[in-house]
Amino acid sequence: MEQKQWQIPVEGSQQVKILFYPSLGSTNTEAAQLAKRGESAWTVVYAAEQTSGKGRHNRPWWSPAGLGLWFSVILRPAIGAKSINLVNLTSALIMRQFLEHKIATAEKVLKPQVQLKWPNDILVDGRKICGILLESDTVKNKIQHIIAGIGININQVSADFPPELRKSAISLKMCTGSQLEISQVLNELIKYYYHNFNETVQRNFDNIITEYEKFLVYQGREVKIFLKNEVKTGVQDGIDNYGNLILSQDGRKITVSAGDLWLINNERTV
Ligand code: BTN
Repeated sequence: MEQKQWQIPVEGSQQVKILFYPSLGSTNTEAAQLAKRGESAWTVVYAAEQTSGKGRHNRPWWSPAGLGLWFSVILRPAIGAKSINLVNLTSALIMRQFLEHKIATAEKVLKPQVQLKWPNDILVDGRKICGILLESDTVKNKIQHIIAGIGININQVSADFPPELRKSAISLKMCTGSQLEISQVLNELIKYYYHNFNETVQRNFDNIITEYEKFLVYQGREVKIFLKNEVKTGVQDGIDNYGNLILSQDGRKITVSAGDLWLINNERTV
């Protein structure tokens, strides 16, 4: 049951609606249902906690109350379905920029590296601070809606994470030393996302790949990618114009459009 809603100004007289729920299974599932019923673009579904939060590759996403920002945005960009990968990369790039700014403006900080792990994880000094799950509904080549589900670790200290995440996860509080008001972060973030996302779509994703590659982790390193029924290995060699990952294998280049990326000869980092 939704508890309250509010509007935030995003640009000129434009406003977006935030629907807040104390507890939901998954904000992505709720947002998809609302989108199917005609809810408008940029409506945000935000939950204090998720009881069945969804991660990529059918993994659960740990989403306790008061510690993180768990939300989903309904997007309806006027683009073809083949650009959905670029929506994924664009969203990650915008979240990275926002988080870097939050970290850089904190007083105590030495300036950690805020990087992207293909396709859409955001890492601070190699530890995951934000994950994105994009789910889309398309008919033929037409996008009905995209749900951008975003999870950001905000107020955790190391001991708050379950033991299996303790080495690989990090929060804004661990980076800045400050406790943050989660709904305040959401309001700021939505304005930033709205503005930068619409601008990127308007300029037809121009320059997005070059910009994304600047922050890409594991470049030139040996990686393996778990696909549905096989594992591919190679040296990570960037991103092509469609957002696919390029691997070099014995002088040959191959591309991969989706999968779970790990470093070789290294324990899984995130
Ligand atoms: C990942 O595996 O890295 C993606 C995690 C995405 C988590 C967010 S939290 C809000 C939204 N609702 C979900 O069920 N998942 C996404």
